[in-house]
Amino acid sequence: MCGIIGYIGNKKAAPILLKGLKHLEYRGYDSVGIATLSKKHIFVKKDVGKVGEVSSKLNFLDLKGNTGISHNRWATHGGVTQKNAHPHTDCSGSIVVVHNGIIENYRELKEWLIKKGHKFKSETDTEVVPHLVEEEMKNEKKFAEAAKIALKKLEGSYALLLMYKDDNIIIATRKGSPLVLGVSDHGYFAASDIPAFIEYTKKVVYLSDYDFVTLTPNNFKVFNLLEWKPVRRKIDTISWDAEQAKKGEFEHFMMKEIAEQVDTIQKAVQQDRKIIDDIVKEIKKAKGIFLIGCGSSYHACLAASYIFSKIAKFHVNVILASEFPNYEHFLTNDTLVIAVSQSGETYDVLEAVRAAKKRGSKVISIVNVMGSSLTRESDTFLMMHAGPEICVLSTKTYTSQIALLSLLAYALAENYEEGKKKLNYLWNIIYQLTSRTIREKIKELAEKLKDKEHVFCIGRGLQYATALEAALKIKEVSYIHAEAFAGGELKHGTIALIENGTPCLVFVSEDNKKEILSNAIEIKSRGGYIIGISSKENEIFDSWVKVPESNTENAIVQIIPIQILAYQLAVLRGCDIDHPRNLAKSVTVP
Ligand code: AGP
Ligand code: GLU
Repeated sequence: MCGIIGYIGNKKAAPILLKGLKHLEYRGYDSVGIATLSKKHIFVKKDVGKVGEVSSKLNFLDLKGNTGISHNRWATHGGVTQKNAHPHTDCSGSIVVVHNGIIENYRELKEWLIKKGHKFKSETDTEVVPHLVEEEMKNEKKFAEAAKIALKKLEGSYALLLMYKDDNIIIATRKGSPLVLGVSDHGYFAASDIPAFIEYTKKVVYLSDYDFVTLTPNNFKVFNLLEWKPVRRKIDTISWDAEQAKKGEFEHFMMKEIAEQVDTIQKAVQQDRKIIDDIVKEIKKAKGIFLIGCGSSYHACLAASYIFSKIAKFHVNVILASEFPNYEHFLTNDTLVIAVSQSGETYDVLEAVRAAKKRGSKVISIVNVMGSSLTRESDTFLMMHAGPEICVLSTKTYTSQIALLSLLAYALAENYEEGKKKLNYLWNIIYQLTSRTIREKIKELAEKLKDKEHVFCIGRGLQYATALEAALKIKEVSYIHAEAFAGGELKHGTIALIENGTPCLVFVSEDNKKEILSNAIEIKSRGGYIIGISSKENEIFDSWVKVPESNTENAIVQIIPIQILAYQLAVLRGCDIDHPRNLAKSVTVP
């Protein structure tokens, strides 16, 4: 959550930071602020609201200087107020800081600093940082030296950027929150994510926890904060470009990313065969396998448990990453944990992985963001190669996760090539499902559902995972209450809510058609409005979304029209599609 970006170089900082903030808006967006440095003066502008609104109100572009740091806030400590917006300064306004994360020991530090005479202006945890540096500078310490000592006192998670009025440098450091450097021919960037600066450079440096970086207009140096030794970090070139981080012909990233699934499944299954074979060996060797994830990534794990069972006759345990502490005592050095995460920064996933590593278990992850914490903390990782997913909702990465997990199941069943072919071929079906004609048809369905209070979703087996994901998509973007059940479960209580016209999405597959349709009839008899998602029409359907029968690949193809349905519902209800209320793209806090 939250996005930070800093720039130092030979161009004016404010316009670069402003663009960067817009590209990072998907991470969190209750307040926004920029600080720049010019001729030994720090200038700060910040307020509550979205980047566009605050920028037109305060005119960020006025800010002078070629060095600056900026922040999109997603509040964790202290209300959403102008004073709590970042950047935060010390007592004198000479040191300025932006922060993503949580300083867990901020109360003790704040009390200590108040006793030393520091005056606090906000309720945030972040504000202790500039005051701590100020305190250290009282002892004749230079800015970087003081920052080093101050930062060692912090507990919790942070990606921090710091500036001081008398030194033209930016200090960038991270522990547990993402931070990546950009290296361009006119200056350096430090940001939470690459889209913030992709317009200016494809050269990036992935930072590790406790990296302490000093950026000057023509140089950067990395030290390890704890050992205070220089560390070498290589410059990587990323394979995607600025176009992929833009909306193109689409009005929203969500629809763009849904349409991209034509390519992303193919990209996901282009893997190094040797890595897949090594992973399969680990799976076969393991005594106990846990698939873990949160939100949509958890649903992908759940779908995979059915796919592993069906294709490879193999049992895996699926646990929500946040519930994993309850299972940790089962872990041994023979256990394998497969962690699934788009961002690779989700707190609960990382904590589960750390617990597994402590007990000597092996960790394999499936990730979309290269250089993310999860890629660094796993023994092996598979990249989804889905390109940047900007909309807060997972769409293309959900299906990429399923494609990759399916590929593993096929490999486990010694059917790798055929499986890969099947997955590759899905592009054809996805192309049709995302065509303009189908989008228009789904819009008609959305018109019928847009004023409903509840939507129910049912499926059996693999389709149960799809039902869960469908409900999540609908509720998070359109704010209509949506709930999913395994086919047989609705009648154990919730059927009481079915009234005349209550919509129910019914995910049908050839292998459980009879059972799920009989559940649908139970709902229809209470007045429910049945929307079938299936390959064949049925007389009980009030609406029908035609999707070709694709066996275990149903998990990929059946969710696509519902992603579009969720999108259309949100459009018709006037919702903020790419940035739904209260949500952040990656949840880096407990
Ligand atoms: C789903 O659309 C997201 N809002 C959310 O549930 C997401 O899947 C979850 O936070 C996990 O994120 P990750 O894949 O980056 O770990
Ligand atoms: N904890 C800080 C705050 O509440 C930073 C939150 C964020 O990551 O945006 O201001």
